[in-house]
Amino acid sequence: MVDFPALPGAKKAIMTRKLFVTTALPYANANFHIGHIMEYTQADVWVRFQRMMGQEVHFVCADDAHGAPIMIAAEKAGKTPQQFVADIASGRKPYLDGFHISFDNWHSTDGAENHELSKDVYRALRRQELIDVKAIEQFFDPEKSMFLPDRFIKGECPKCGAKDQYGDSCEVCGAVYAPTEVKNPYSVLTGATPILKSSEHYFFKLSDPRCIAFLEEWTQSPGRLQPEVFNKIKEWFTKDEEGKGGLGDWDISRDAPYFGIEIPDAPGKYFYVWLDAPIGYLASLKNYFGKIGRDFDAFLADPEVEQVHFIGKDITYFHTLFWPAMLHFSGRKTPDHVFVHGFMTVNNGEKMSKSRGTGLDPMKYLSLGLNAECLRYYIAAKLNGRVEDIDFNPEDFVARINSDLVGKYINIASRAAGFLSKRFGGHLSGDVGVEGRTLLDSLRAHATTIAELYEEREFGKALRETMLLADRVNEYVDQNKPWELAKQEGKDAVLQDVCSVCIEAFRLLTIYLKPVLPALAAKVEAFLRVEPLQFSDAARALGAHQIGTYEHLMQRIDIKVVEALFEAPPAPKVIPGGEDIAPEIKIDDFSKVDLRIAKIVKAEHVEGSEKLLRLTLDAGEGRLRNVFSGIKGAYQPEQLEGKLTVMVANLAPRKMKFGISEGMVLAASHADEKANPGIFVLEPFPGAQPGMRVR
Ligand code: MSP
Ligand code: ZN
Repeated sequence: MVDFPALPGAKKAIMTRKLFVTTALPYANANFHIGHIMEYTQADVWVRFQRMMGQEVHFVCADDAHGAPIMIAAEKAGKTPQQFVADIASGRKPYLDGFHISFDNWHSTDGAENHELSKDVYRALRRQELIDVKAIEQFFDPEKSMFLPDRFIKGECPKCGAKDQYGDSCEVCGAVYAPTEVKNPYSVLTGATPILKSSEHYFFKLSDPRCIAFLEEWTQSPGRLQPEVFNKIKEWFTKDEEGKGGLGDWDISRDAPYFGIEIPDAPGKYFYVWLDAPIGYLASLKNYFGKIGRDFDAFLADPEVEQVHFIGKDITYFHTLFWPAMLHFSGRKTPDHVFVHGFMTVNNGEKMSKSRGTGLDPMKYLSLGLNAECLRYYIAAKLNGRVEDIDFNPEDFVARINSDLVGKYINIASRAAGFLSKRFGGHLSGDVGVEGRTLLDSLRAHATTIAELYEEREFGKALRETMLLADRVNEYVDQNKPWELAKQEGKDAVLQDVCSVCIEAFRLLTIYLKPVLPALAAKVEAFLRVEPLQFSDAARALGAHQIGTYEHLMQRIDIKVVEALFEAPPAPKVIPGGEDIAPEIKIDDFSKVDLRIAKIVKAEHVEGSEKLLRLTLDAGEGRLRNVFSGIKGAYQPEQLEGKLTVMVANLAPRKMKFGISEGMVLAASHADEKANPGIFVLEPFPGAQPGMRVR
């Protein structure tokens, strides 16, 4: 139980809490998916609730920039890793703003602060004699000259023999193994057979008795971890009776080439991405404090500060063992709470067919004009404080929003506001009478319970409580029938009281919903003409207050729009009787093809060939090219000579029966050339010059 100083009935005033809150740092190799939005929503609701309680909150995140996969993805995209992650970072804002995620700062683990802090942490661990250096053998790609992460090795499963399985586990039989056990291994990068090569690696000595003792105590500290999380990880660090199991030392280094932070005094060695990633939490806070002029070291040295991490279940190990140990043995504050959530699936995680699209794309959700707060509400309504997966189901989503938010909550305001503004100039009754007061008091009495539920991340329960209160208000409206009062003589005062009760109830419900629906709450605040609502505002009454005019606050959701969310993008157009458009490519793929304007200097028949013409092309290179083209059936050589056309200039030369072809001329033809004969060589508009690039 937590004390709620700002609430009615709070026994003792406690000091403002100082909260440092993070979500996991997303890998900077892709845009956000629904799982990220789920995590950010959970943390954001909690953070907004804390802010509404008057707590001091610093809520930060960053891109997780380092590691081999990102380095390789950048190379494929023809970018430096720095440019690659910067491009991903530049796409973050529309998602965060779009879903009202209120981070105070967004940074990168490749930022200067993180380089600095990571080295500091490492040096401190070394001073504690918790760093070891051991030579280990690992798979090495001889063509690429780099050590291969497990995921970049494939081969046959050592257990069931399935082909093309990853170097760490088999998707067919589920076996888990070391990459060295894989049969006929090959490098995913080059196809080469990897060789075993030895190199020195740096280890964090987690098997050290000091680490074990620390973690046993740390993980058991009440309130720090959810019980199911504790039960799970306890097996990871405790040895059995025979002294087996328990924590092994953690390999924290990777050899160049690697996109990461160089290890001090170890040339060519980099920190493994999972060492510097969580330090990125501190780096983002430090970067933020730099911007607002606050003392980072003093803040983290303050024993009152609570450090809170929201993470998904898949990264529990790193956050409940490695991370606290790194912090503790480098003389730093350790996390006070690690809040682990389950995974979000869509349509029960069913693998969706191509035609139905894949999953729920958050950006598509926004661009279809769907209300971001509806998704926040739906996610929050399904969340609890345990590690449970939640599912997005389209029908359930529409029903939940339309019945709860529109049908129960918004309805209260829309039923009462019109009468108040038309008949009473927006003036609320100062005293609403016994029945109204009783109802409103019962709503206020739930503030503490609802606040506690938010605190415990029992958002589903908090919203259910709130909707039960909304039901009570709607019952009150149904019993008092303002629409009938409005028609009766001499019932003005009663009508004003009933509508005033509705508006005050609506204000209270808005307080309870505001952590989940911040933008809607802001509209309500404007309509009610009140200051931004805090949780403590539940304790007071609006009284004789004048409200503004009601404008529609939220629309029902149309199932058709939600269905459109899951429709695959329109299939490429099919040319009548022709062939399908090839799979989509990126502009980078296209740029790989170097197309040039070329002049057909000479065209001649090829002896012994029924199809080919020999073309001599000038692409402005100071040399001529010999190209064989299968256009004999369509053109006489003299029709072509002197004309300009388009040539693929960087095609590998091809040895043919009649000589070497050093390029290819572009021509249009029907898929079924027999049924629809005709070949049409491309010719540029007048003015093009040989050698110009076609792009
Ligand atoms: N970069 C690491 C985290 C480093 S933290 C110092 C990482 N990144 S991630 O992009 O793969 O995942 C980021 C967060 O999203 C993690 O907490 C992960 O559990 C969460 N989710 C990823 N898929 C998810 C769902 N389908 N549902 C809910 N959360 C999920 O891991
Ligand atoms: Zn297998």
